[in-house]
Amino acid sequence: MLPAPTPDALEHSQHVVEHLRAMIENAGGWISFAAFMEAALYAPGLGYYAAGAMKFGAAGDFVTAPEMTPLFGRTLARAIAPVLTETGGDVLELGAGSGRLAVDMLGELAQLDALLARYCILEVSAELRKRQQETILRALPQLAGRVQWLDALPTHFNGVILGNEVLDALPVDLVQWTASGPQVRGVVLDGEQFAWQDRPITDPVLRARADALDLAPGYLTEISLAADALITSLAHTLDHGLILMIDYGFSASEYYHPQRHMGTLRAHYRHHALDDPFYLPGLCDLTAHVDFSTVARAGMDAGLDLAGYTSQANLLLNAGLTELLMQTPPSDAAAFLPQSNAVQRLVSPAEMGDLFKVIALTKGKLPQLTGFARGDRRHTLQGDRDRRLV
Ligand SMILES: C[S@@+](CC[C@H](N)C(=O)[O-])C[C@H]1O[C@@H](n2cnc3c(N)ncnc32)[C@H](O)[C@@H]1O
Repeated sequence: MLPAPTPDALEHSQHVVEHLRAMIENAGGWISFAAFMEAALYAPGLGYYAAGAMKFGAAGDFVTAPEMTPLFGRTLARAIAPVLTETGGDVLELGAGSGRLAVDMLGELAQLDALLARYCILEVSAELRKRQQETILRALPQLAGRVQWLDALPTHFNGVILGNEVLDALPVDLVQWTASGPQVRGVVLDGEQFAWQDRPITDPVLRARADALDLAPGYLTEISLAADALITSLAHTLDHGLILMIDYGFSASEYYHPQRHMGTLRAHYRHHALDDPFYLPGLCDLTAHVDFSTVARAGMDAGLDLAGYTSQANLLLNAGLTELLMQTPPSDAAAFLPQSNAVQRLVSPAEMGDLFKVIALTKGKLPQLTGFARGDRRHTLQGDRDRRLV
């Protein structure tokens, strides 16, 4: 049984529904699912990320790694510190959520004497930007002056660009294979309700991506042109340094496996994962898993080197998560147990450890990335590219 929304939340969702209906009517009766998802998540003042929904944590809809333990951000700080030293650069965090990761990374970089001049945040949601400012000022008043919010990607950047669970929050197209080839799935109105309608693909970029996949009739999947575009823009921005993206997903050969014929699109509402992306628009997060082979291909096509691809567990364990955990003595059970439980969730293959992956794309000469020292699987992404799967 799903928790009932409050009357205010229900009224908000009704406004989002009206906005989506107007979009469909103004477009002549059909919009792509990517347009629907973009508005449901980001329409100013209305979308899930752009309005007041709690989103993260126990009282929200889902929990992300930075919300589980400070050890996540502290370990990432250790993994990237040598790159910051080598490039003399800054951090640019995309989609910083509540601001928790920024707090933990900045604190650890200060401890490591690797403090940077600027910690930049690019956040599309005005509501989250405000929340991030409050979190950082409250937790780290002495370092808050180093954090800058950007309105757009800079033209040049040295250092580390980082995104945790950002790629999965970008709008995706839905593509359905039929006997006569792939079709793009869109949203129409059936009376008061949203309904699906498939059409021939007219966008040549989407068409080329779908044709490369060559899937069986009946297969439904997501294609994220927005993820390609974001990686390409980041590649152009980065002069020297590392792009590190962490998210749930797989290589293309796993992503488009026959068993995954219903795709990976999900709505998240109060810690329930739902198959229906039309459920309470504006109150649900919508996400799709990330196709890391395509992310790698977009980066390499834009001049980046694929420097690593591994599971979240490997990255964190390689970069010293266990050593950081052991700084809290196990005899201090009240402090140790919550941290060790969170670490277990971060690295266990049955939880986030293997489903979440980390990709490193680099430009210029950099020190060895310790996070990929053991268990680097970048050959799987390269293999998908060689076989022209992406
Ligand atoms: C699932 S949340 C993850 C938040 C945070 N990184 C965490 O791990 O808790 C997705 C975040 O990405 C942001 N976002 C979405 N599209 C973006 C874009 N194109 N550039 C930067 N941030 C974006 C959202 O507003 C939100 O803050």
